[in-house]
Amino acid sequence: MTAASDIAAHYTSGDLLARLEARLREDGFDPAHPTAEALAPYDHFHGRGLEATEDMADLLQVAETDRILDVGSGLGGPARYMAERFGCRVDGIDLTAEFCAIATHLTALLGLTDRVSFEQGDALAMPFGDAVFDGAYSMNVSMNIADKRALYREIHRVLKPGGWLSLSEVVQGTGGAPDYPTPWARTAATSFLATPAETRSNLEASGFAIETLRETMETALAYAARSRALVEAGGEPLHRAVSLIHGALAQEAMANSAQALRERRAVPIEIVCRKARQ
Ligand SMILES: C[S@@+](CC[C@H](N)C(=O)[O-])C[C@H]1O[C@@H](n2cnc3c(N)ncnc32)[C@H](O)[C@@H]1O
Repeated sequence: MTAASDIAAHYTSGDLLARLEARLREDGFDPAHPTAEALAPYDHFHGRGLEATEDMADLLQVAETDRILDVGSGLGGPARYMAERFGCRVDGIDLTAEFCAIATHLTALLGLTDRVSFEQGDALAMPFGDAVFDGAYSMNVSMNIADKRALYREIHRVLKPGGWLSLSEVVQGTGGAPDYPTPWARTAATSFLATPAETRSNLEASGFAIETLRETMETALAYAARSRALVEAGGEPLHRAVSLIHGALAQEAMANSAQALRERRAVPIEIVCRKARQ
């Protein structure tokens, strides 16, 4: 059994806020008054960053009165995006205390505290009542969770009947295991990639009906090529969360992750599924 503390340790540096503020200054922004646009290269910590968050939101129907759950909310970019776009309330939960503190801080700076909040906790035992959320999403989190059925059952528990679940997952491809480190794990001991078929059956066994399950490999490779072209032209990569969060480990982790995509060892997929109405 993997200790949750090993996973939180992978994401914790202790000085992340100071390094984020330094990056924002280098980018020409005042870290005391950041905008969502200034933060976007850093606070959407998943493949394709903000673009993937936008694509996920495009598939969803969310009302202003909805209460939404972000499972593994990281620095809170996706939660703030959802609240801004739909006017809904978002509760984030994440294992990594440092991420939750920074997410809360950034949310206050952006004036969203009345609608977006973060709590440190384990997605496998969430501090929420039954059937309280209209929808839930999770972006690039389940790779750290061995017991996927326990995760999906726990999300199912807190969703209202008819509630939706949107997942951006990295799943096991046909090319063998990725090399480590990757952005989500230092070694294979904290990485748990299910195949697409296992993901489907885990969700169905947990009570979800799958509405869409699609691979987003082509989009991911095109995004990587666009970002590479920017760097070759002397600019910044599109997505800078991994280099910010992982510091010295980042280059190797990003190279392994890019190789894993190219060789179909890791495959990005998007899923929308739903809890039955009764
Ligand atoms: C790659 S980051 C993604 C963060 C965020 N979803 C985003 O897209 O910006 C993975 C996150 O999952 C969180 N995580 C991993 N296992 C978890 C668990 N059992 N419960 C809650 N959060 C978890 C980590 O702390 C980390 O913040």
